[in-house]
Amino acid sequence: MDQNLTPYADAIAAYSQRGYAKFATPGFQVASSAQQSTAQPELVELFGHALLAGDVPPLIEGIDHGTYPTPLDKSLELAADAWGARRTWFLANGASMGNLTACLAIRNFGTNIVVQRSMHSSVIDGLAITGLVANFVRPSVDIELGVANGVSVQDLTEALRNTKNPVAAYVITPSYFGAVADVAGLAKVAHSFNVPLIVDEAWGSHFGFHNQLPTNAIRLGADLVISSTHKLGGSLSQTAMLHLGHGSFADELEPFVERAFRSMQSTSVNSLLLVSLDLARKQLAVNGKTTITKSLAGANAIRAGIKAANRFTDAGDQLKKHPDVYEIDPLRIAINTAVGNISGYEARSILFNEFAVHCEMATESTLVALIGAGATPEVDRLLTGLANLPIRELNRTDQLLLPIAGDRQMSVRDAYFSKTEVIPAAAAVGRVSADSLAAYPPGIPNILPGEIITAENVHFLQATIRAPFGHVRGGASKDMTAFRVVT
Ligand SMILES: Cc1ncc(COP(=O)(O)O)c(C=O)c1O
Repeated sequence: MDQNLTPYADAIAAYSQRGYAKFATPGFQVASSAQQSTAQPELVELFGHALLAGDVPPLIEGIDHGTYPTPLDKSLELAADAWGARRTWFLANGASMGNLTACLAIRNFGTNIVVQRSMHSSVIDGLAITGLVANFVRPSVDIELGVANGVSVQDLTEALRNTKNPVAAYVITPSYFGAVADVAGLAKVAHSFNVPLIVDEAWGSHFGFHNQLPTNAIRLGADLVISSTHKLGGSLSQTAMLHLGHGSFADELEPFVERAFRSMQSTSVNSLLLVSLDLARKQLAVNGKTTITKSLAGANAIRAGIKAANRFTDAGDQLKKHPDVYEIDPLRIAINTAVGNISGYEARSILFNEFAVHCEMATESTLVALIGAGATPEVDRLLTGLANLPIRELNRTDQLLLPIAGDRQMSVRDAYFSKTEVIPAAAAVGRVSADSLAAYPPGIPNILPGEIITAENVHFLQATIRAPFGHVRGGASKDMTAFRVVT
């Protein structure tokens, strides 16, 4: 297919240029020209007339409605072609929506599912909503870096063997730290148990668009893939895609995915978000080889600078030693700051506040910088900031290590819908959590509904809240002094 085409973006541009007199949503109703506009002045000033004129409601003839193929149909097919999928859906509520959609769709196959324990909280919400019963499989964890990696082929095999009538295997790769699992191997195992492999590839939407990047999961045999295009793929925040593979489950899955997608997508989906997906796909498919080469050169320069300064180390090298880490996304630079005597949290905070350098995330020991696929990073600003970070006395025994999860007492759904009470943290230790609690980023739940709350997890979440940028999603109290438990 001609990946230079952007049918949906063109149709939206044509609509906005036609200058309709507006008697329809959205209610700010920009007029046919900037001069005549009666829309809220602050809105026009902030976003500009052209942008607001492109905010077009759905079900418009010649855009997303009418005889097949509409421009939207054509853009979806171009996206499917670019990622090697049989069919693609554009999502306007992120990969979170993709995970919820996947859970709803797969529930039609049955109840029991093998799920990687370090899934994003949206998958856990999907379990609670659908009543899918998860047999959780643990990824390997680098305790020192505070990082969960992927699931090994061997562990997935064992988990599927130990699950009665599994309906799917659900894994996440790459990890927030760029560790890529052996997707081809995992797909082979899932298929040998006659179940589809669902991959949360939120962090790998750019995979497959450059020969130095990992291959994307659909091309490696995954059956349903959630891709957060806005993360590194170049579209606007909140946009994502769901890809259906070509494998033997596609015929059965497709109508269920379509139905679940309809339940989850807004009926007033924002056209500007979809336009950004159409344009990001073209950019990756047509220009990716050139632009990503520049991004990779920037990443290499950062890694070389860190090595030359001889204070911090590339945590990716450490992660590669785990047997379940197949490769590392080169556009993800995880820096071990603890070896250079400053915590990742403090390093990120100083870079942000004093050097106006915004890094993606930090843990106690690690700072993560990422480079958008096609972006050319300001290498010197990051390296200068790193070079000027103060040296602290780090008490390694006080270091905040990623705790392992407590034992499971009941299913996610049963705990979620149980009678609950909110009690002080100290009293909550040893009780069954009703909430999903995730240190953010990365939003991987530390405590799941149905799991015993451990003292280590309480300590970890409370310390996370106190750290600069620290945030815990899903708690009954913002400061983690109280927890919601099953009564
Ligand atoms: C692995 C993973 N899956 C899904 C999501 C949700 O993505 P989104 O923010 O696009 O909804 C995230 C968000 O960080 C994530 O890390």
